[in-house]
Amino acid sequence: MPKLLFLFFLFLRPHHAAEDFVRQPARPLVFTPHNRPQSHPQQVHVSLVGDNYMKVSWVTDENGVPSTVEYGKLPGKYDSSATGEHTSYRYFFYTSGKIHHVTIGPLNPATTYYYRCGGSGPEFNFRTPPATYPIEFVLAGDLGQTEWTNTTLEHINARNYDVLLLPGDLSYADTQQPLWDSFGRLVEPYASRRPWMVTQGNHEQEIFPMIYPKGFKAYNSRWPMPYKESGSESNLYYSFDVVGSHIIMLGSYADFDRDSDQYKWLANDLAKINRSRTPWVVVLLHAPWYNSNLAHQGEGESMRVAMEEMLYKSRVDVVFSGHVHAYERFTRVYDNNADPCGPMYITIGDGGNREGLAMLYKEPKPVISLFREASFGHGRLRIMNDTHAHWSWNRNDDSLNVVADGIWLESLRHSCSCAPKMEQKMEHSSGKDEL
Ligand SMILES: [Fe+2]
Repeated sequence: MPKLLFLFFLFLRPHHAAEDFVRQPARPLVFTPHNRPQSHPQQVHVSLVGDNYMKVSWVTDENGVPSTVEYGKLPGKYDSSATGEHTSYRYFFYTSGKIHHVTIGPLNPATTYYYRCGGSGPEFNFRTPPATYPIEFVLAGDLGQTEWTNTTLEHINARNYDVLLLPGDLSYADTQQPLWDSFGRLVEPYASRRPWMVTQGNHEQEIFPMIYPKGFKAYNSRWPMPYKESGSESNLYYSFDVVGSHIIMLGSYADFDRDSDQYKWLANDLAKINRSRTPWVVVLLHAPWYNSNLAHQGEGESMRVAMEEMLYKSRVDVVFSGHVHAYERFTRVYDNNADPCGPMYITIGDGGNREGLAMLYKEPKPVISLFREASFGHGRLRIMNDTHAHWSWNRNDDSLNVVADGIWLESLRHSCSCAPKMEQKMEHSSGKDEL
């Protein structure tokens, strides 16, 4: 490419708000090729949808393949089947394959199901979440598709878990649509075996003025989450329940001010939580509200100002975010101060994308920041019972037996110091909550 042209494209590249940070050297993208017949499924992944149901999603190059999943509890013996829907999309000169989404169930908890997509191709299997505690969530943000991503995924897979939660930035396709397909193939060995529940990051936006003004075309087509089931009208924010936990996925890149649909939906969703059924409330979003890394400073601030009070009054237990390519754990916080009744804030954007790590931090360390480190890794939230959960962070450089950071959490619903405020809050709410 002529030098002048190169500089022109370099100038056009989207810039982050904070440019005064240095990242660890990036590793190149790993393109995962398609090596199955055109009618066979590729990019298979599963997600939770309602109680005891699972959505199976996959892509075929061939258009005639039916959107049908056969499944059963024994390998090769499929005594049930379900038919779903399909879609496809265009982005400039790219046309996607046939994208299938089939909801199967009702399914038994803590059970391995074997399944086949579209009547041909390899058999896959997944395990449903348990019906009772304990339940273990894996958290990994900003995955991308590099050698570092592979290391993170291998690390995640090395120990059992129930559900993967991803706080945004999946493929880093950044409008290069074949990279969405490559990402789907890269994660298939993992995402076809456990439900992956995701929310969007800035790399999912893919907005092009006038032509694709709303963006998220690939993301919404390929990774539909159970938003309708939680009363949301957008795939960019939704919630779901699983084993004593109400998980809320917020959209950092959807409107969030007081007049927005997301704000109204969140207020309604929080008011409906039954803390007897789901004592734990966990929120995921992409751009962190609390962050002492020099990367992306202040990018989550307007969303924090708009929504933090709602989460605080509802006694949300933990807020996970991504975006910053590092790990950071804060104490319980409300309005920039330590508060025993506020959520614990954790940044877990260290999944392994092509941009590398965010190495530089604000000094001195803010008192509300308890642990921060720029290393690739993943986190695990193991909810033991109604009152206690354990959070741990593992570096990819260590063995899984080494917990780089770990802490026990007490649910705010059962916290003595916060209970009176909760009672107060519940008196002012619809009165449906049992406390
Ligand atoms: Fe991001």
